[in-house]
Amino acid sequence: MTKPVWIKHAAQLATLASEMKGPRSKEAMGELSLIEDGSLWIEDGVIEAVGTTREIEKLYKAKVNDAEVVDASEHLVTPGLIDPHTHIVFGGSRAQEFEMRLEGASYMDIMNAGGGIHATTRMTREASEEELLEQTLSRLDSFLKHGVTTVEGKSGYGMNLETELKQLRVMKNLKDKHAVDIVPTFMGAHSVPVEYKGREDEFVDHIINDMLPVVAEEKLAEFNDVFCEKDVYTPEQSERILEAGKKYGLTPKIHADEIVPYGGAELAAKVGAISAEHLLKASDEGIKAMAKAGTIACLLPATALYLREEAAKGRKMIDEGVPVAISTDCNPGSSPTTSMPLVMNLACISMRMTPAEALTAATYNAACAIKREEQVGSLEVGKQADVVLWNVTNYQELQYLFGVNHVHSVWKKGTLAWSNGLQN
Ligand code: NIG
Ligand code: FE
Repeated sequence: MTKPVWIKHAAQLATLASEMKGPRSKEAMGELSLIEDGSLWIEDGVIEAVGTTREIEKLYKAKVNDAEVVDASEHLVTPGLIDPHTHIVFGGSRAQEFEMRLEGASYMDIMNAGGGIHATTRMTREASEEELLEQTLSRLDSFLKHGVTTVEGKSGYGMNLETELKQLRVMKNLKDKHAVDIVPTFMGAHSVPVEYKGREDEFVDHIINDMLPVVAEEKLAEFNDVFCEKDVYTPEQSERILEAGKKYGLTPKIHADEIVPYGGAELAAKVGAISAEHLLKASDEGIKAMAKAGTIACLLPATALYLREEAAKGRKMIDEGVPVAISTDCNPGSSPTTSMPLVMNLACISMRMTPAEALTAATYNAACAIKREEQVGSLEVGKQADVVLWNVTNYQELQYLFGVNHVHSVWKKGTLAWSNGLQN
């Protein structure tokens, strides 16, 4: 049996505890359940008690001498961050395209000319499973160093059965190889592969008839995502794919209204998607429909910045009752970053979310977007002890001092998984 861990004297402990079930919206997104001089008691990787240091000391008097004690008096302590939308498994780099875009080429022009997602697809098809695994491991290291303890990961750089399965198997094989957990999503409909150009419906049939059954049979994914966008998949094609996935128990997600308004938000509400992603150009009706259906808006302000587009209307969505989560969208084209702290900063700066809302969006609501809120996303009794100590003393400082990695140390399932080596 491992020693209990006692994290004590936290300058501020943001537990995000609540009686409420399900994703948070409106005022609830701003409530962090803060404890000054906070304390966590952890046994066997699970949170046994949460309270003030005095309360916990009293409760565990008989055990404190046997515990590993962590002094958090200089630190804000939060749940491990959760990234609910990444394309973490990919081959190659698109640094050249970055330069092309800076010179004026658009993201969609590059993709329609065979670059973009198609370029990464070629490089991912060429990469071996071992190479992809090694590269993904090092990306997970980087996520961990930025305070992330769980990520969602999508396939979609295969767009043929063999490579889609290769990507998903990489994620499966990473289980137990890294502290950061990966939750897998199938995204065969990430684009229309060049060999199917002009035969989009045939590729939709191929996904439905030949890919989804194998993914489900091998239990390689929990979610099913599509890029519903002009010149990619229409809302009708997207709906077919998502409805087919539902029959195999895969929960829908949608890359929606990223480049042009296209009815993606409305479709997300209609098919009962757990989340709709991007939403830069979501219509007012779409936002209303999502609020009514309880669809989580997974907003990606680093992607908007990187594409030099105006960010999604996060403030409006929250005010209208849409639960908001945020994510890096980590991918080699539109958002090559693993920094969730930067994404929290941008949620405040570009979408006028409050510092508290940004933290909720990166923890509890992010957990809801990948159906992990029973295990992670808040610091409550019975939950997994995924915890971050920050080199700031309160959550406002965390969002205010932007573009800096404030992570001091990261605990995954009650074990120290990363420490920046500094004393405080
Ligand atoms: O979420 N928009 C579509 N898919 C990704 C980008 C993938 C890529 O460019 O490689 C996104 O931004
Ligand atoms: Fe994405």
